[in-house]
Parts: sequence; structure tokens; C-alpha cells
Amino acid sequence: MGTIGITRRGFGAALGAAAGVVLLDTRLTPAAAEARVAAGLPRDVLQLNSNENPYGPSAAAREAMTRSQEVAARYPDYQEDEVRSALARFHGVAPEQVLLGCGSGDILRMADGAFLAPDRKVVVAEPTFEAVLAYNRVTRAQPVKVPLDASFRHDLPRMAAACDGATGLVYVCNPNNPTGTIVTGEALAAFLGRVPPSVTVLLDEAYHHFVENPGYRTGFELLAAHPNLIVVRTFSKIYGLAGMRLGYAVAAADKIEALERYASFSNTNAAVLAAGLASLADPDLVPRMKRRMNDARRWLTGQLTADGHRFIPSEANFIMIDTGRDVAPLIEAFKAKKILVGRRFPSMPTWLRVSVGTPAEMAAFVAALRDIVPVPAAA
Ligand SMILES: Cc1ncc(COP(=O)(O)O)c(C=O)c1O
Repeated sequence: MGTIGITRRGFGAALGAAAGVVLLDTRLTPAAAEARVAAGLPRDVLQLNSNENPYGPSAAAREAMTRSQEVAARYPDYQEDEVRSALARFHGVAPEQVLLGCGSGDILRMADGAFLAPDRKVVVAEPTFEAVLAYNRVTRAQPVKVPLDASFRHDLPRMAAACDGATGLVYVCNPNNPTGTIVTGEALAAFLGRVPPSVTVLLDEAYHHFVENPGYRTGFELLAAHPNLIVVRTFSKIYGLAGMRLGYAVAAADKIEALERYASFSNTNAAVLAAGLASLADPDLVPRMKRRMNDARRWLTGQLTADGHRFIPSEANFIMIDTGRDVAPLIEAFKAKKILVGRRFPSMPTWLRVSVGTPAEMAAFVAALRDIVPVPAAA
């Protein structure tokens, strides 16, 4: 309760400040603004478009990256082994069951290479994160898109029914990007029971840290019973390391071997490996960030509800809002106010995806939304 009280007061202050004409000074401290410019980023653009962590890496991860300069001259083989072993211990599997990637998108690319071909099918939800289909422009398997159900969740029974002897891969994003919805552990277990064992199930858990729904289960609980399952994770979201690039897969050793054939040598770097180790070793990092970002999401949904907007309840660090009109010009209108929001998803053309940011960023977003979409779609 205390946390919520403090958070609300924080939001109130941020909202008051952000309501001023010069929004930007309220969003970033001068030091943070200077750091952005030094790093080649615009000083004053709000990046609410890629579901990142606005607070960035932990202090320990930052220190670890700085120290990694000492080993910059060496290939990171030793550190790769170290992180692979640390992740294996973390998840209670053997190191042979872990594979690192240059972000988890790299793992999704490897999966296409390993399990798809022009005479195979790839089953995905519509809409979902696009990487598997984007990389399939090279592998050229036949896409089978299964619309989300009426609650914007993966329609797992229909996805399982769409899998046959020609299916190479089925991709499940849990929570789903862009809708923020989850499938429960029970639904996932039933799905895995129905998918033919010859089909590889790629379970993307990029946003799992944010989930609060008690019905959620990670794929790790199902790995032992389903050798066709690959769980994919990333350090880009709650760990705040999107710019550094580190993701990984956990699966049965033969699936990891199949993926690894498509991996480049040394596909991770010494700095992010050091940051990854430091992040895993910090037990407070995930709960602290989860609380901060989910509190911000709750504040945002409170404002949306009060303003009469229809939105999809989200278990992730982004939220979809129905604007009731084509979202493309609205995205441009936000851009004109120096606020970047998510791209347009063709199967949900009136929905705006906004990432959860700091309290001040959320206040600035709400102020802009009131301006750009003064009349909400019927909730
Ligand atoms: C569901 C999902 N999976 C994977 C990724 C790729 O993340 P990364 O390559 O940074 O690990 C993203 C990025 O937004 C995502 O939304």
C-alpha cells in the first residue's frame, strides 16, 4: 500500500511539472539529457515505441560494462562460457541446453534457419512480434497466421489445430507483443500436449518478468516433458540492456545444437556478457523494476479509464489503446510532439501501442493523448 501511495504522489508531481509548456526539462535531468546527446541520441524525444526499460541497466551492470574495457582486446570465449553456465544454474538446466544470441531476435532468426524451409509451414498468431515472419523472408516457409481470440489472446486450440506434418515451427509470444496478453500455464500445457512432437514450439518470453497474473507459467516448467519446446529470453527488457544486445534460448540439447548451426561465432560481446552476469546476480533488480514499471502502467490505465479510452489490459511494459480511427496519422501527430509511440499493426489499424516509461514520460504521453485523441473510441 505504501508503495502505491508514494507512487501516486510521485505521479502527481510529475503530472504537474509535465503540464508546463516546456515539457522536456521535466522529463530528463540535465545530466541525463547531456548523456543522451553524447551518445548520439536526440536530447528531447520520448521513446515510448520499443518497450524498453527507461531506467536502463542496474548500477552493478554499468560498473561491469566499464570494467569490461580491460578485456576488450580479447575474444569473449571465456565470458560466453561463464554466462552460459550462469544461465544454466539460474534455470536448473545443463550448459548444453543454453544458447546465447545477439539479442533474442538473433535466436528467432536461428530458429527460422534451423526449422523452416520453403516446403515447411510456420504457424504464428496475428498480430504478434514480427521477427519470425520477417526472417522467414529468407527461409521462405509458408506462413499460417491464426487471429487472436476475442480477448486478444493467442488462440492456442486453433494454433495447435493448424500444426501438421508440414509445420516446422509454431511461435508463441507470452506475453504477446503488441497486445500484452498472456496465455495461462494450463492453456500452454494443453497446447503442448496437442502439437505434434515433430513441430518445434518457439516460446518467446521477452516480457515474462512483468506478468502479475497468477495463472501464468513460464515454459521452463514444461521443458522436461516437451523436448520440442524452445524457451527464448532477453536482457533487453526488464534488465535495461536493449542497446547492448543479449538474448538466449533454453531447450533440449539437440534443439540447441540445431539452432547453433545458424549462430555466428562470438555473437555476443564482452561488455554485455559482464552486464548480464551482474544483472543475474542481483536478486532485487527484477522485483524493483517490475514494481516501478507496473506502477507506471497502472497509473496510465487509471488515466485511460477516467478519460473513457478502450484499452487491452496488459501484463507487459506496453499497452494497446483503441483510438477508433486509423492510427498512422496519430503516430505522426505524437512524433510532432517529440513522442515516439509504437508502429501500426495492420490487423489492428486503430490501436496505438505505447510503451511504459517513467512517471514524467507517462504524464507527458497522457497530456499529448488528450490533445491528439480528445474524443475516445467507445470503451
Ligand atoms: C516479443 C519480442 N521478442 C523478441 C524481441 C527482440 O528483442 P531483443 O532482440 O532485443 O532481445 C522483442 C523486441 O521488442 C519482442 O518484443
